[in-house]
Amino acid sequence: MQGKRILLGISGGIAAYKIAYLIRILKKKGAEVRAIMTPASSDFISPLVVSTLTENPVHIEFWNKKTGEWANHVDLALWADVFIIAPTTANTLAKMASGICDNLLLATYFSMKGKTIIAPAMDLDMYQHPTVKRNMETLLSDGVSIIPATEGALASGLEGQGRMEEPENIAAYLNDFFQLTKPKATKRILITAGPTYEAIDPVRFIGNHSSGKMGFELAAACLASGNEVLLISGPTSLSLTHPNLTVLNVQSAKDMLEAVQANWKTCAFGIFSAAVADYRPEQVATQKIKKTNEEHTLHLVKNPDILSWASTNRTNHQKVIGFALETNNAKEFALDKLTRKNLDFIVLNEFVKDVSGFQAETNKITIFDKDKNAFEFPLKSKKEVAKDILSVVLKD
Ligand code: C5P
Repeated sequence: MQGKRILLGISGGIAAYKIAYLIRILKKKGAEVRAIMTPASSDFISPLVVSTLTENPVHIEFWNKKTGEWANHVDLALWADVFIIAPTTANTLAKMASGICDNLLLATYFSMKGKTIIAPAMDLDMYQHPTVKRNMETLLSDGVSIIPATEGALASGLEGQGRMEEPENIAAYLNDFFQLTKPKATKRILITAGPTYEAIDPVRFIGNHSSGKMGFELAAACLASGNEVLLISGPTSLSLTHPNLTVLNVQSAKDMLEAVQANWKTCAFGIFSAAVADYRPEQVATQKIKKTNEEHTLHLVKNPDILSWASTNRTNHQKVIGFALETNNAKEFALDKLTRKNLDFIVLNEFVKDVSGFQAETNKITIFDKDKNAFEFPLKSKKEVAKDILSVVLKD
């Protein structure tokens, strides 16, 4: 954590007293720490303690009435590599989720371009309250990471979930965060995305509901971590531009295979997130088919398996990552695909109508590596899911 800039937000809960220890650990590990406190939090920990331990002035109000100094929330947010809000009370959580911006800590949160992580702490029934749960879901889909409260004795005397995670575990979480986001050596990464359209005649096709969002988010995350991307996309309404990005637009599985074959040799990684049609019409009518008969039969033939082609035609240095979208016996089918297609990783995408899958904004994934180790993640926005996938597959 040497030299990392950690902005610490403290809101007004009893767990605030533990923040002195967190600051000590972060400082010992070489991080720079600045703190913003909500006015209520100074009842639980003295700003003098926070200021002394961070070796920086503490910001509480937009302007300091004594010195006349203005605490610029935009500058604080730009300064930070990460914003950790610990403890996060139900009140601060609700304001973050609904856009209320009535103190410096919240104004800074809404100005943050980088990652915000929260460590909630509240009493048992508050933590279980549907509103609190809903607010946490909202923040997750806004891209905030949550260090869940732990179970044990609570300040109220009750026992259960609600304790802020211990300072050493928060520090370990931050350490992992910096490891995962460390810039890696540039790689050229091939990504397939979206559906394929298999022509029936000049105006009709067989396709599927894939939106291409997962593939585009993966491309964006690969680019953000400094890699070069070749995105081979079936028809979607999405667009992405970046100096290190080449997009090849294709229609059918055969087109997609040709684009992969022409480029695979130059790539270190292949992430095959496209929902490729399994079959295509054997004949494509040259003219629009007329509805003259009561029935019409299409004869379908199997499409090439693009992922299997890439996995068969690779060197030892090339890695392949496949996807499995399953509605039943998910784990079993995913592991079968991992072995059958000889993959380095498979991302199992659980299909839950409108929540996880093709058109949804969110996904719930489990990643299996070659040795069948599982990395399970909660339901997240596809942007966050893309980062989770890269944190596992681009680790070395
Ligand atoms: O066999 P299945 O279609 O379930 O496998 C899914 C994985 O294989 C995905 O990664 C998908 O992109 C890839 N695939 C492919 N070419 C196909 C079919 C699937 O690349 N024809």
